[in-house]
Amino acid sequence: MNAGNPSHKQTSIWEVSDLGSTGNNGFAAPSSLHPAAKMKELIQHPDIQQAASLLAAGKLVAFPTETVYGLGGDARRTEAVEGIFTAKGRPSDNPLIVHIADRAELDAFVLEVSPADEKLMDAFWPGPLTLVLPVRPGSLSPRVTAGLDTVAVRMPDHGIALALIRASGCPLAAPSANRSGRPSPTLAQHVREDLDGLIDGIVDGGPAGVGVESTVVRTNAAGGATVLRPGGLPAEELGRVLGAEVRAVSAEPSADIDPAAARAASEAGAAGPKSGEPDAAPSGGEAPGEAPRSPGMKYTHYAPSGRLEVVLGAEREAAEAIRGLLAEAKARGEKTGVLAFDEHLGHYDGQADLVLPLGSLHDLRQAASRLYAALRRFDEEGATFMLAEGCAEIGIGSAVMNRLGKAAGGRIRRV
Ligand code: TXA
Ligand code: MG
Repeated sequence: MNAGNPSHKQTSIWEVSDLGSTGNNGFAAPSSLHPAAKMKELIQHPDIQQAASLLAAGKLVAFPTETVYGLGGDARRTEAVEGIFTAKGRPSDNPLIVHIADRAELDAFVLEVSPADEKLMDAFWPGPLTLVLPVRPGSLSPRVTAGLDTVAVRMPDHGIALALIRASGCPLAAPSANRSGRPSPTLAQHVREDLDGLIDGIVDGGPAGVGVESTVVRTNAAGGATVLRPGGLPAEELGRVLGAEVRAVSAEPSADIDPAAARAASEAGAAGPKSGEPDAAPSGGEAPGEAPRSPGMKYTHYAPSGRLEVVLGAEREAAEAIRGLLAEAKARGEKTGVLAFDEHLGHYDGQADLVLPLGSLHDLRQAASRLYAALRRFDEEGATFMLAEGCAEIGIGSAVMNRLGKAAGGRIRRV
């Protein structure tokens, strides 16, 4: 089909069953680590061996982790790392996370691990925690760190990811395996949609569990830490383990919608700025001249093609606002969608073309695991105007609201 296109790659797909995760995500104590015998079996699995040999040869293979699917390449080879940026269409000043399977691998490319970093590794690795550490000069492709003197590292809590790292013998640079600006992939199918023909292989290990990316953290000399990107590991858990202050970097450009101005705009029929265009455009959010501490935070991510707004408020007020906005959108001829908590679905019966459930309000882990697939579904259905119920920024709710806010281009309506 694409035989005439020299950049077209044959993307191999392998279906491999995982060992199951250790559950080390900060919500519960890990019950057991991956059993050594089973891990050995997985490493020797012919499909894992084949995928690993491609990685060892500098090729690109997507694989499941407990957060989202990652697009892996040897972090030491610039050609591989450049291939990742190209396949994703990712801006090159946004550094990548390096994935390891054993702590002993750190020495090769990290200069120093502080006592606070050690504490966090002890408590949360393998798991959805990424630590920003001083990089050993010359050890990794400079493209991985985008020229910074630090490198972001994590040990994923997923048997297939760990087996691939071990079998390939490579520290794997792996951003989420989506085209830049698309929601991160929580299924191998999502990776295929975005990257088929652009990468060398995809290991399909079923759904990623957590559903949002890892929490990116930098510790400080006082034994505390700063959360550079909220994620699957709640910040509250970090504070509990460190016994010191954990600060959150406010990442969102504050584009809260002023209800009066928004009403005026919608009455005037203005469509407003569309989210997600252009791909990965800088969205601001830092003081002028201030370097973003997690470079990825300045980009508009996770944007569906239609216009998304988040509505935050008490149940009745939020539902009323959402129904009103849907009616207006319908009148404009929009194809509408709602993303709502299970307990509130009754408010939206027959009110939108597509109503998708976020899971129970009382377990925000469900919302985290469903969010990206729902955003993709809206795209598939051609929704042009979508409203999502917001949630409290507690626990993993912080990551859910962060991603929803990004997908909405910062349009959060408080009612
Ligand atoms: O869960 C995850 O973290 C997934 C899976 C595949 O492991 N990976 C992922 O990678 O989300 P990516 O590349 O999409 O996000 C990396 C984030 C970006 O926000 C980036 O700016 C930040 O980590 N980052 C990377 N290196 C950094 C550094 N040296 N200092 C500060 N932030 C860094
Ligand atoms: Mg990403």
